[in-house]
Amino acid sequence: MPSQGAGQRRRVAAKPPRPPVRNARGGRNYEQQSPESVKNKLSVSVLLSVTAVCVMLAMLWGVWLLTRRPDALVAPPSVNQLFNVTATASVYDRGLVKAADLSYEAVLKDHPRYWTNTSHRHFKGSVLAYVTPWNGKGYDMAKLFRSKFTHVSPVWYQLKRDNSGLHLHGRHDVDQKWISDVRQGGSPKIVPRVVLEGYPTDMLTKEEEREEAIDAITSEVTKMQFDGIVLEAWSLWRGYRLLQDSNLRQKALEFIKLLGMELHTTKSPKRKSGDLFQLILVIPPPTGTPQDPNSFTTSDMIYLRDSVDGFSLMTYDYSNAYAPGPNAPLAWMRQCLAVLLPKGKGKEGERADARKDLQSYDIASRVPEMASKTLMGINFYGNDYSMPQGGGAIVGHEYISLLAQHKPILTWEEASSEHYFTYSKEESMIKNKKTDHKVYYPSLQSLSTRLEEAKRWGVGISIWEIGQGLEYFFDIL
Ligand SMILES: *[C@@H]1O[C@H](CO)[C@@H](O)[C@H](O)[C@H]1NC(C)=O
Ligand SMILES: *[C@@H]1O[C@H](CO)[C@@H](O)[C@H](O)[C@H]1NC(C)=O
Repeated sequence: MPSQGAGQRRRVAAKPPRPPVRNARGGRNYEQQSPESVKNKLSVSVLLSVTAVCVMLAMLWGVWLLTRRPDALVAPPSVNQLFNVTATASVYDRGLVKAADLSYEAVLKDHPRYWTNTSHRHFKGSVLAYVTPWNGKGYDMAKLFRSKFTHVSPVWYQLKRDNSGLHLHGRHDVDQKWISDVRQGGSPKIVPRVVLEGYPTDMLTKEEEREEAIDAITSEVTKMQFDGIVLEAWSLWRGYRLLQDSNLRQKALEFIKLLGMELHTTKSPKRKSGDLFQLILVIPPPTGTPQDPNSFTTSDMIYLRDSVDGFSLMTYDYSNAYAPGPNAPLAWMRQCLAVLLPKGKGKEGERADARKDLQSYDIASRVPEMASKTLMGINFYGNDYSMPQGGGAIVGHEYISLLAQHKPILTWEEASSEHYFTYSKEESMIKNKKTDHKVYYPSLQSLSTRLEEAKRWGVGISIWEIGQGLEYFFDIL
């Protein structure tokens, strides 16, 4: 999710890279006719170069092994291994959701043990689950816990403008077998993410190109029998500073609106009437400066209310490697909702005042229809920071390896409502120098408090991303 807010970029940077796309080009043999002697010299030099390359690769591999974090060498348990471990009650009934006295042993012991009743839902609002192709575990989680989600968004498509025009890339990632395993009886809805890439202005200013873009998306949705899409465009528009031009900003909103209207009115013979294709829009968390044109505002939300079915609000990455801290303090998430959600009954809505205490947030006056469309972002990944600066994102199995290796005390941070632990270790390249680390990763308690908050506001949630979490997290949903 590029150049969208710094936060998004950081998150992306920390993600494992995508595997390279298969090269379909066939090999061609360019061998030339040449005298014997030349041929011999040639093969000797080829042999030497190949040897040199091999030696270099071996050296690079050695350096890589030495500098790699040791915990990363611990292989994650296979998905099948984990799936054979279940529990007869949910994490709530097993007393595992708690702030105090959470021990690392308990996490190590309990994390793979999810409740066998995977169809029970504790959280009744919308749940959008992101799945990424570069983390295959998410595909399995989506199948196993399918009943817990209302929407599943595989991160598959890029709508890109290059020299030869506009193209929708990503169909090679689509897996129809997996879709039919996940979506049974029409639920959960499969809404692949489409991210806008490349030069974005023409798509907004040239009517032809705008129609081409909308058409490309709509026909792909129809052809592949998806239920709609998640659109990630704001980040690119912000990156290109389009939003600072009020005319272009309006064009951007119109683009979203037209795309939503097109999806809503496109009929497919394979669908029940009234079962419309959906548009979910990724939006950044409010910056706290209402005048900032890069912010997505309450009025934008009201403008798009009829054409957008969900707003995937990126309430994560509050902290980063330059300013280590909790991933998403609960009070900050609350404030984001308070700033964003429209008040009152009229179409106008009313910008809310973000006050300090919960009472004055005036939750009861929020427009329920807009609240239920808002999907508060929840991270299933964490961060391993080296102090005072540095480090980056970690996923479930890396967190488990760190717990096993350092046997830390887990502390509940009241101010953010997140668990963390610290450890120190000798860095491989510098002898006798220890670095302190601080690790924030979601816990049952941190997730539970956030779902309670979501219930209070009547909002749904969106999870980035389900392959990065621990099995027992899904009991909470
Ligand atoms: C699950 O574990 C049990 C006991 O450890 C074993 O007998 C069984 O074959 C395993 N099942 C699978 C599907 O791996
Ligand atoms: C699982 O939960 C669902 C929904 O709460 C419930 O209807 C069902 O009876 C439960 N199944 C079992 C085997 O407990």
